[in-house]
Amino acid sequence: MSLSLSHGKPLEPGWAGLNLSDFPPLGQSPAETRFDLRTWWPETERDRPIELEIGSGKGTFLVQQASQLPDVNYVGIEYAHAFWRYAADRIRRRNLTNVRMVHADAKTIVTWYCADELFRQVHVYFADPWPKKRHNKRRMIQADFLAELHRVLEPEGMVRIVTDHDDYFAWIEDHVAQCSHLFDRGDFERPASAAEGEVVGTNFERKYRREGRPFHGLTLRKR
Ligand SMILES: C[S@@+](CC[C@H](N)C(=O)[O-])C[C@H]1O[C@@H](n2cnc3c(N)ncnc32)[C@H](O)[C@@H]1O
Repeated sequence: MSLSLSHGKPLEPGWAGLNLSDFPPLGQSPAETRFDLRTWWPETERDRPIELEIGSGKGTFLVQQASQLPDVNYVGIEYAHAFWRYAADRIRRRNLTNVRMVHADAKTIVTWYCADELFRQVHVYFADPWPKKRHNKRRMIQADFLAELHRVLEPEGMVRIVTDHDDYFAWIEDHVAQCSHLFDRGDFERPASAAEGEVVGTNFERKYRREGRPFHGLTLRKR
């Protein structure tokens, strides 16, 4: 059991935590492997809209948003094991049955496992900026991944992005411009769960706000 983030309390992902062993085996191609993630929920809860958060960290956005909107299903993906356990444990303890936390690389899950036109929204908040030039290629937001997000969004579905990092935001704007045939770019709109004076209300936002950093956000609506 992981104790590191929990100050000695044991963390138990339980039903809220999934990892790659819960996914079907990989086929010859992504098209063979993709499936409808709504099958994770009982049949009576599958016709709800479903949204994805990439890089959920400690799961604060999911906990806040899914508590306010119990008729929306949420999938969070987090590849750092300790954060995934922490987030899944929070979701299980609060009995937020409309959320599942996946421990995996989001690019793999989206590209290989997610059926077309699945999500109403995709949330990407404070993704790692990889500031060194030679690491820029590791950034989550890139034109080819935006095209993949376009595929998994339902018609008129939205990607929502916030970062504190000026250079990463310029990079995002550049890659968004390369996808102008796929999306209409708009200003960021705060989610229902953001508290007064917050943009989204994630852990990183709260930490960076104390440091006085400015935030940049945008939305992309699927054409
Ligand atoms: C800077 S943190 C932000 C966490 C949270 N969104 C917040 O605002 O507090 C970025 C998170 O994304 C996760 N992450 C980065 N790349 C990822 C990937 N390819 N797949 C899944 N998670 C990823 C990291 O492990 C980290 O927890």
